[in-house]
Amino acid sequence: MKMCIDIADVAQIRHIYEFFPVDGVSTNPSILAKTGRNPYEVLKEIRSIIGEEGELFVQVTAKKAETMVREADRIVKELGDTTLVKVPSTPEGFKAMMMLHEEGIRFIGTAIYTAMQGWLAAKCGAEYVAPYVNRIDNMGFDGVQVSKDIHDAIQGSGFDSGLLAASFKNSQQVLELAKYGVKAVTVAPDIIEGLVKNAAIDAAIHVFTEDFEGLCGKGRTMADLL
Ligand code: G3P
Repeated sequence: MKMCIDIADVAQIRHIYEFFPVDGVSTNPSILAKTGRNPYEVLKEIRSIIGEEGELFVQVTAKKAETMVREADRIVKELGDTTLVKVPSTPEGFKAMMMLHEEGIRFIGTAIYTAMQGWLAAKCGAEYVAPYVNRIDNMGFDGVQVSKDIHDAIQGSGFDSGLLAASFKNSQQVLELAKYGVKAVTVAPDIIEGLVKNAAIDAAIHVFTEDFEGLCGKGRTMADLL
């Protein structure tokens, strides 16, 4: 399963890329708005951090399909063809998706709250579809289950698509989908760090260090021995 980060803050992206195995960066207009900067400047900086191979997800903002396609063309021209255009999974969005599919532009169906929305985006040729796990939970449904249903429906129909599940509130939701074999998740940095944040891990490592230093001397490591 691929893991992307759902953020546009370049300092946090650099930090997470240094310490965790990350496959790409996803953004949306709200995430970009939090930077307070020109979106293209931010996105180009992100592209330079993640390199040409890293997948970068950028959302269109227009309401009509034709304008979404114009935005998509510009986004890919500016940011390279490992950039996937996020298109809302609405009727206008599905129309735009079919046009993008004809053009050969890579795209993802986003803002997905129901299994049928996900299935339709996959049928339009979306490389990924993005169910909003936590937002679905907040509506009183089961976001992990909706994601699994979309995964199954895509596989059952033989579509060449997969999940980029989004909107997580905890690492358990991520793990559930990893076990289920979904294609990708995108998570906020605090959730990624939460995957290994555990007092028991810190305590175990502290004891290992103390035992070793008791044997070989304060501040010494295996690199300092014969
Ligand atoms: O990119 C959209 C998705 O990640 C939304 O997440 O945390 O705003 O529900 P959140």
